[in-house]
Amino acid sequence: MSTRKILATSALPYANGPIHLGHLVEYIQTDIWTRFQKQRGHECYYICADDTHGTPIMLKADSLGIKPEELIAQTYQAHLADFTEFGIVFDNYHSTHSEENREFSSLIYKRLRDGGHITSKTITQAYDPVKEMFLPDRFIKGECPKCGAADQYGDGCEVCGATYSPTDLKNAVSAISGEKPIEKDSVHYFFNLADFTQMLQDWTTAGHLQPEVTNKLAEWLDGGLNQWDISRDAPYFGFEIPDAPGKYFYVWLDAPIGYMASFKNFCDKKGLDFDDFWAKDSQTELYHFIGKDIIYFHALFWPAMLSGADFRTPSAIFAHGFLTVNGEKMSKSRGTFIQARTYLNHLNPEYLRYYFAAKLSAGVDDLDLNFDDFTQRVNSDLVGKVVNIASRCSGFIAKRFDNQLSAMCAEPVLFQSFITANEEIAKCYENREFNKAMREIMALADKANQYIDEKKPWLIAKEEGKDQELHQVCSMGLNLFRVLMIYLKPVLPKLVSDAEHFLNFEVGIWEVNENEHNSLCEPLLNHKINDFKPLMTRVDPEKIAAIVADSQENLEKMPVVKAKQFEPIAPEIEFDDFAKIDLRIAKIVKAEHVEGADKLLKLTVDIGDETRQVFAGIKSAYAPEDLEGKLTVVVANLKPRKMKFGMSEGMVLAAGSGGKELWILSPDEGAVAGMRVK
Ligand code: 2FM
Ligand code: ZN
Repeated sequence: MSTRKILATSALPYANGPIHLGHLVEYIQTDIWTRFQKQRGHECYYICADDTHGTPIMLKADSLGIKPEELIAQTYQAHLADFTEFGIVFDNYHSTHSEENREFSSLIYKRLRDGGHITSKTITQAYDPVKEMFLPDRFIKGECPKCGAADQYGDGCEVCGATYSPTDLKNAVSAISGEKPIEKDSVHYFFNLADFTQMLQDWTTAGHLQPEVTNKLAEWLDGGLNQWDISRDAPYFGFEIPDAPGKYFYVWLDAPIGYMASFKNFCDKKGLDFDDFWAKDSQTELYHFIGKDIIYFHALFWPAMLSGADFRTPSAIFAHGFLTVNGEKMSKSRGTFIQARTYLNHLNPEYLRYYFAAKLSAGVDDLDLNFDDFTQRVNSDLVGKVVNIASRCSGFIAKRFDNQLSAMCAEPVLFQSFITANEEIAKCYENREFNKAMREIMALADKANQYIDEKKPWLIAKEEGKDQELHQVCSMGLNLFRVLMIYLKPVLPKLVSDAEHFLNFEVGIWEVNENEHNSLCEPLLNHKINDFKPLMTRVDPEKIAAIVADSQENLEKMPVVKAKQFEPIAPEIEFDDFAKIDLRIAKIVKAEHVEGADKLLKLTVDIGDETRQVFAGIKSAYAPEDLEGKLTVVVANLKPRKMKFGMSEGMVLAAGSGGKELWILSPDEGAVAGMRVK
């Protein structure tokens, strides 16, 4: 078997939200495939990164009152922790907000521009006059032009399914400020995808894609390829276009380039040759695992960009379907929009790895996570069949033979049939038919259990003079179990690592080589093992119920960017009630950070005859230096409150929803500190 050089990627998750079970289908699929390739002895790298640019990330950071850099740093840690606990092992996990990505994005852009594939032209777009930014379609809301449903986004109606352009919406407002958008002109940069029509016609029919994907692409190619708008105006969180100040690369331009950037970062750390994998004449293999919703980007834009910029194109794109839960689209209100972390809080991640493997095929069909089926399959296949083989045999080996396996393989034919199956199983893994691989492996597990059922070691154990038979049967059972562990290792790395400790043996390279000590075809003979500890417990249905309940609760905590809504007016009060509140004009003489406080600033305010110390939760919106010298309004007769950081002797009045959206009240010119506000 000659060694292949393989680079595999999963789509880069956006850095504005947590990993959920829908994402995990792909990361688990790619992880199983790359673990398999490594186990086969190939030089294989699994590369990924966070996808950090774009308007949603910028606005989310804004609403949290933090810089986008801070948001993406926090998300990076959270994503990586989730992946790691699910056993997903990347060779490198980087960020699209990196120097490597800036350089490759500029390089590819310049090569495309110099090749004549970039055009600029003025376009008209919706603009938020308050927020002073152009509005992506999904940040415009209004009434559906077709069915009249309120609160629909600019790109389509969730009620009647109509698609339209945002200008068709009735009573449209910006979802950010609530203002009516205006139309505004701006120069944009376009990638002339049509220049690559012939190249793409050839590439999409040359075996790089699944047949159903090729068919879909043929439709798009027949319909003609449009120019692709690759620029966005400031304010935008991304990379500025080299020759166009104030214009930024659209997030989808630099996202796939992030695959290269992460690999470059890896090469620099490991001393690998980047060009070996990305130069036009590269002989290595490059695979992108993606969801079917982003085929256009990966099978049209991406090969065209690479080819126009003189890099190699992918060997293949592997698209998969969406995850449904209990037969329906994941739903926040039903509690089936499950975050990776919520799952990890309750259940063993290897249950899910196995369940997805048992359902994943090479096609683009959707995959259903049915909780009853999940419970039943994990319990019956992993606990009932696989682990059971070891628990049925290990006790006798420990008690009667001091954990020493017999010196002879009792059933060479049976053992050989387990070894021979490796070719078919390897083929299934290679072709991403994990469901078939799991079926083959479970058929072998059935066979091993049948063998034990027939031999009945629990009866042999009671008979006089049958020690040798008991030893051989149980040793045989454990040798069959060991072969299953080799086959299951890409799917269940943790369980197999525990089994390796139990068997006192490390799964080596998946290769049938009679001369190799830990080759697949060598049974463990006269070999000392360790005491058996339970390798997996049954799925507890109460844990599933807890996941669903927690997911419903997460929904309540989830921040939503929506059009401005004002709080209802409070119940009416008497004039006397109002007169009790002593509002004073105050001059902020000093504003300071408070050590250890995320939200508070310490203000020293002059209210005429005295100065007061007030803690105000306005740090997300104001720097101390912006406040000093300003006049504002404070409640002067509020009972002093002892706070963690000291006494607060009053309250500054401010309006807004929080974060950056917060404004302190200030009086018109002429007012002076100490005046009562009436
Ligand atoms: O659809 C998404 O979630 C994107 N963040 C995927 C990007 S994949 C690649 F092109 F970077
Ligand atoms: Zn509608």
